[in-house]
Amino acid sequence: MWATNLKIVGVVLGTLALYTLIANKIPQLQSEVPQALTLGANVTPEQLVAAGEKLFNGAGGCTTCHGLGTRAPNLLTDEKGTGPIGARCGKREPGKACKQYLFESLDNPTAYVVAGYQPIMPVMTKQLSPPQIWALIAFLESQGGTVDVTASDIPQQSQLTPGASPGNPGGSFAGGSTDPMAIINAAGCLGCHKLNGAGGLIAPDLTHVGARRSAESIRRKILDPASSIAKGYEKMAGIMPKTFGTMMNAAQLEALVQFLASRK
Ligand code: HEC
Ligand code: HEC
Repeated sequence: MWATNLKIVGVVLGTLALYTLIANKIPQLQSEVPQALTLGANVTPEQLVAAGEKLFNGAGGCTTCHGLGTRAPNLLTDEKGTGPIGARCGKREPGKACKQYLFESLDNPTAYVVAGYQPIMPVMTKQLSPPQIWALIAFLESQGGTVDVTASDIPQQSQLTPGASPGNPGGSFAGGSTDPMAIINAAGCLGCHKLNGAGGLIAPDLTHVGARRSAESIRRKILDPASSIAKGYEKMAGIMPKTFGTMMNAAQLEALVQFLASRK
């Protein structure tokens, strides 16, 4: 059973690697992230955990908050006497198993906000594909707990590619749409930014961003968030995900940039 399940996970991760490779060939897009998940067909739990660890420390963007000072709870080390995340995940919410809790933390982070922290964690299922999410969960479980992620946790459509849907088997971010609002919603920009009165509070309001930044500056900011930090938000530097450039195709990036640049 395990062996079969892991074979499926292997195929899923392999497919993902292929699409990541293709995405990285598009010249406008940054190739720094995300790294390909190149796991063979006989992937073991250890390999799944290893893929999650790479994501955690790299393309997943987790370490911009976790592990740096007091912005977010420690995950790999003890947190206030409750142990590392794999040891405490099953005790956070009554009746919720570790695996369920970790998925919720990545899919709906404000459903349960760890006491003493602000609800600033982005919705990770909007930025990462299901195989990536489940690799991360396996890695987090391995930190003091038991890894029980199997292929049956990963929804069928994830065998396609991030953003794919049954009606769009080619699979692309935001269903391939070049509608700027569809892209903004799929990317989760409004988890942090406000636009026309709706959205988050931790990042600059984008309603009039075109009055402050040229299209070129906005494009560079999206592809490389470290390139220029918004005035007055220096303390929040590093929070904006670095992965957008590899998530969307060149046409989508351009539609998003032109839309924002026109917000005068
Ligand atoms: C912008 C900052 C930020 C980023 C990026 C971020 N997190 Fe978080 N995360 C938080 C904060 C703050 C909390 C605590 C508040 C809460 O529960 O939402 C948290 C809580 C969690 C928890 C629950 C911890 C516990 O003790 O119960 C998990 C699990 C988690 N994050 C995993 C991740 C993973 C995996 C990533 C990368 C894919 C990630 N986070 C990226 C800020 C962040
Ligand atoms: C996890 C939170 C988060 C998400 C998601 C996010 N950003 Fe940001 N963004 C920030 C923060 C914080 C800043 C201010 C600090 C800085 O400049 O890095 C910022 C700054 C910016 C700026 C510069 C604004 C200015 O006034 O100069 C632009 C443009 C921008 N983001 C666009 C986007 C777009 C487009 C998306 C979605 C594709 C997005 N951001 C998603 C957190 C986020």
